Amino acid sequence: MSETKRDMTGKVAIVTGAASGIGYAAAAQFAADGAKVLAVDLSPFEAADGILTLAQDVSEPDAAANIVGKALEAFGQIDILVNNAGICVPSPVETHSDDLWRKTMTINADACFNLSRAAIPALKKSAAGRIINVGSIMSDFGAAGMAAYSTSKHAVAGLTKSLANELGPDGITVNYIQPGAIRTGITKPTFANEPGFEDYWIDRAAIGRIGEPEDVTPLISFLASEEARFLTGEGILIDGGATSHP
Ligand SMILES: NC(=O)c1ccc[n+]([C@@H]2O[C@H](COP(=O)([O-])OP(=O)(O)OC[C@H]3O[C@@H](n4cnc5c(N)ncnc54)[C@H](O)[C@@H]3O)[C@@H](O)[C@H]2O)c1
Repeated sequence: MSETKRDMTGKVAIVTGAASGIGYAAAAQFAADGAKVLAVDLSPFEAADGILTLAQDVSEPDAAANIVGKALEAFGQIDILVNNAGICVPSPVETHSDDLWRKTMTINADACFNLSRAAIPALKKSAAGRIINVGSIMSDFGAAGMAAYSTSKHAVAGLTKSLANELGPDGITVNYIQPGAIRTGITKPTFANEPGFEDYWIDRAAIGRIGEPEDVTPLISFLASEEARFLTGEGILIDGGATSHP
């Protein structure tokens, strides 16, 4: 957990993809700062102390209703939604399967839409509703083998900007974060199997290292806070400077 300390007492946060990586760290940070947290992931999992967990595949048709229903049943309100669950399975377009395309879009993009839509009535009742979507540096560009992932993360950007405009009058802010290479479940296999991948991103980063989930959670915490009330519709790069140069 990062050393950030922010008083989140009285807030209720939902974090998807919270069994691992960025989502696990964000849920732990919210709980440490006093928020009540519903942490969601595919199968039963352990979370930090005081966190309520829910095993739910966010790509299932009834996922959004189940997640929002569980949060309201347990805590009676929702203030913060972090749409973080995601997959990244590289494949060239020429041999790309329909299934992988649909699965990537359903988890990375459709679930953000479905869960945001389902949470809106509760977020409107919050004094400071917040939606934080986890995009990527690939919300801005593409790469060979990354068509489905990049397209899904561009969708996250478009959804965020539209939602920000729809919900601004209700005092709800909607932003997406754009991590670079962070050491998590998604990237570990690539670091292990692709020689040079880790060094490439270390060389690219102005900060000169791979990111850790705890490098990202302070940004999520800030966006979720009341201080961030005038910041909405934005994608915020958090990549150690890796995309700050050609
Ligand atoms: N790690 C990086 O370098 C990086 C960079 C940019 C963006 N991201 C984004 O960060 C987010 C979090 O990923 P991470 O890097 O922490 O990886 P991670 O694999 O450690 O965590 C992702 C979590 O999402 C869960 N998940 C996947 N499909 C799900 C589903 N259908 N329903 C519920 N949960 C599901 C996984 O079980 C896992 O616990 C993702 O959206 C990812 O695209 C990661």
